[in-house]
Formats: sequence, structure tokens, C-alpha cells
Amino acid sequence: MVLLSAIDQGTSSSRFLVFEADTGELVTSHQIEVRQLFPAAGWVEMDPMEIYDTVISCIQKTIEKLENLGITADEIKSVGVANQRETSIVWDKTTGKPLYNAIVWLDTRTSGLADEAISRTQSKSKDEFRQKTGLPIHPYFSALKLRWLFENVPEVKEAYKSGNLMFGTVDTWLIWKLTGAYVTDVSNASRTLLLDLHKRKWSTELCEFFDLPMEILPEIKSSAEVYGYLKNGPLEGVPLSGCLGDQQSAMVGHQCLNAGQSKNTYGTGTFMLCNIGTRPIISKNGLLTTVGFQFGADSPVVYALEGSGSIGGNVVRFLRDNFKFIQDAKEMEGLCRKIQDTSGVYFVPSFTGLYTPYWDSTARGTILGLTQVSQREHICLAALRAVAFQSAEMVAAVEQDLDNGTKVTTLKVDGGMIANKLFNEIQADIMGVDIVTPKITEISGWGAAVAGGIGAQQISLDEFLEQSSEDNRYTPQKDEQWRSKEMARWKEAVKRSCGWAT
Ligand code: G3P
Repeated sequence: MVLLSAIDQGTSSSRFLVFEADTGELVTSHQIEVRQLFPAAGWVEMDPMEIYDTVISCIQKTIEKLENLGITADEIKSVGVANQRETSIVWDKTTGKPLYNAIVWLDTRTSGLADEAISRTQSKSKDEFRQKTGLPIHPYFSALKLRWLFENVPEVKEAYKSGNLMFGTVDTWLIWKLTGAYVTDVSNASRTLLLDLHKRKWSTELCEFFDLPMEILPEIKSSAEVYGYLKNGPLEGVPLSGCLGDQQSAMVGHQCLNAGQSKNTYGTGTFMLCNIGTRPIISKNGLLTTVGFQFGADSPVVYALEGSGSIGGNVVRFLRDNFKFIQDAKEMEGLCRKIQDTSGVYFVPSFTGLYTPYWDSTARGTILGLTQVSQREHICLAALRAVAFQSAEMVAAVEQDLDNGTKVTTLKVDGGMIANKLFNEIQADIMGVDIVTPKITEISGWGAAVAGGIGAQQISLDEFLEQSSEDNRYTPQKDEQWRSKEMARWKEAVKRSCGWAT
């Protein structure tokens, strides 16, 4: 039996997963929740050591579980990494210690820096570098986070002066800690606002514009090749041979390997990716252009259009932790099925701003339409619908960008929220597309495991494509008239949330 493994390091948890190469079946796994720290309004940090330590604990616990099944660790032939993207970490080369907490992708502390950067561009537009990077100038991406670290953390400047500064997104941090290699993959690099999307190299122009030293950036590799070997622990000597940003990894896991195929992942946020083939399309409708994957240094790079949403599983966590409406995310479905509709309640949970298609970091959460009859059920249902409304805006943007009459008719979905069947029904109704759930629930981890398996030559793309992944299909039950009325109300609610934090 050939086993492929993956680390899936997300914003809410770390996971280690072991799959059977032939079937994609999950043999065993372990997951540990990781803390998000909120030192100020709009700031989101994580402890890089906690990120690393939870990964190590997950590996150890998973191997224990594997051994309890009578399988030894040496059946595992490769490790892949899927990671939360953009989150930025700086550390000292000699001590291996972080110089500051990780600044998480959701963090908005660099809004002022973004405005200042935009004012320095020729076009005075956030889209100045869109042709080159596929991205707008926005706090979401790593470049401004690294700029902030240089300006505000003296240890970062000192480490730079002494030649000991290392910087990376979570993939780079983990791969360096685990193997000693200082690399990133091209899909993660495409989220920094420092990559030339067309040449797939760090851009001198962008590094100069953001005043960041190019020499501290990690080497860019493909998504499937051997970067190094695990230095110690139960998997010592196993190749780390695959790496993808977690959303790209889900795209691979869903087998969206051909142009026109789309997936949507509901993790902490929501991320829809549509495979656009080997030529980047620059969005005119608020989507990002991103690298999808590259399976080997000599293979073509495949690109994707991405709808990024700041609203996702974090709204369910908010209802649990802040409003205490539920004790467990599993209660959402039962609670929301008690009512037929939201009785006019709309919830825009834009706690740290809105991404696609608005890109407004000053948007803040709002609940509209409360009356004397409003109950927690209405707010919970409005929260589920908010996530689906946001996705519907992404589908519309993709269809406009593809510009050739192509319609998104099927959306493959994954992530914690799809365990809620009512949510899947709501998605189909609000988006007007078929929603397909996969057999493999850990789809991001599976994508990274496949990349690792390809990189270590344990599995071929053809073998992977022979497996079928569809489980359930949800078809829309509401008509177009209902949809456009609801979308109009949602857009009206969004307008009221935008610009609030000025
Ligand atoms: O771009 C951020 C994204 O990669 C985060 O993913 O799964 O932690 O919501 P997740």
C-alpha cells in the first residue's frame, strides 16, 4: 500500500492527513485548533511557533493512530503542504525564532499603508499592478504586511542588517522548519503582490515600489518537486515534495484541472477558483488572477480566477463565540431549519472588510431588518445566506470576466460548512447553479497529498484522474425572479456596510 500524506495548515486549525494513493481514501488524520489573536480592532495575528508546534503534534498523533491500525510510518512515501496563504512571518536565520507574530491574511492594520502606496502610483489606482500581479494593492497580500514589519518592528530591521532576516508565508516557514529548505511554491508566491505573474519570478519593480529587499525572499519552486527531506520525527527522511496554497490545493483535490472548472471552499473565509488554463486573464470585475498549480519545474503553469471572500466559517465561529447563539457549529442546521425564511433580516458579517468584488477594507458588519419577531434563528439563517450571497457575486464576476458566454453551471464545494446540508441547498438556490459535494471531505489536504505524490513520483496525474470524487448534487429550487430580488436586497445591505470604519 502506498500512502501519501499532507499537512493542512489553515487559519483555524492545523491538520495532518494520510491518504491511500490509489483511492484517495483518508486512512487517518489529526486536527488541532489554533488560536487567532486580536490585539486591536481589525488586527489578526497568530503565533508562528504555535503554527509549527501544532503541525508537529498533528504528525505525531496521526502516526500513533496509524500504528494503532497496524500500519507503519514507512508506508508514507511523501508529504505535501497546503497552507493558509498571504499570512506573513519573519524569523531569524540563526536562532530559528520568529521576530514577531504572524500577520494573518485577514488583518487590516496596513489599510493606511495601502492608501499611501496607491497615492504613489501613476494611475492613483489600487489596480496599478493588476496586469503584472493579478492583484489590487490591498492589505490582504503579503507585501504590505512585510513593509509594516520593517517599519514597526526594530528586530526586523536589525536582523536584515546582520543578514539574518528570513521572510515567508506559512508554507515557507513550515518547509524551512521541517527540512531546512528556504522555498515557496509558485501558487503561494502569487499571493504576495511581489510576483510577476507572467514570468513567475519576483518582480524588481514591485520590490522597489514597496521598498522590500528582494534578496530575503525565498526561492520560487513548482508545486510538485522534492524541496527537501524531513529532518526528524517519525517521518524523518520522507520527501517533502508538494506545496500549494490551500485554495489552489482544494482546486486540485476537486480535480478542477481543466479550464472552465470551478470550486468553492468554505474555510475561515470563502474562496472560489475557476481554472482558466495556461494564460492569465486579468479581471475587470474584482476577481484576482492567481497561479493555480504547476506540477513539476518543466510543466506548464495553470492559472485561476479567484473570488476571495472574507465571510465564511468565521461567521459561524462568531455566532458561537461572540453571540453565543450556538455551542457547536453542528447546531446551525437544526436551528435554521426551524424557520422558513429570515423574516427580512440581512446580516453582512464583514468584520474585517469585504473582498471580491468590493475590496473595501473599511466595510464593517451590520444586521438590517430586525423587528420584534426576530430571533437568533433569523440571524443564523441570514448568516448562512450571507455566505451564499457573497459566492453568488463571485460566480457573476467569473462569468463576466470569461466574457465568452461561459456560464458556471456546476460548483464543486468543500470546507467545514458543507456538512450543513441546508447551507448547500441555500447555495444552490441563491447562486442558481448545481452544488456538488465531494466524497473526500478533506479536499485541500488531498490536493496537497496528490502534489506531494506527483513530486515524489508516487502517483501520476492520470492515475489521480481515474478516481471519481462526486458525492451529492444539490440543484436550485428557486426561480430567477426570486434570486434577482434577493440579490438586490443583499447588495443594498452591503452598501450600508461599506465605508463604515473610516
Ligand atoms: O487566502 C487565505 C486562505 O488561504 C485562508 O484559508 O482555509 O484558512 O480559510 P482558510
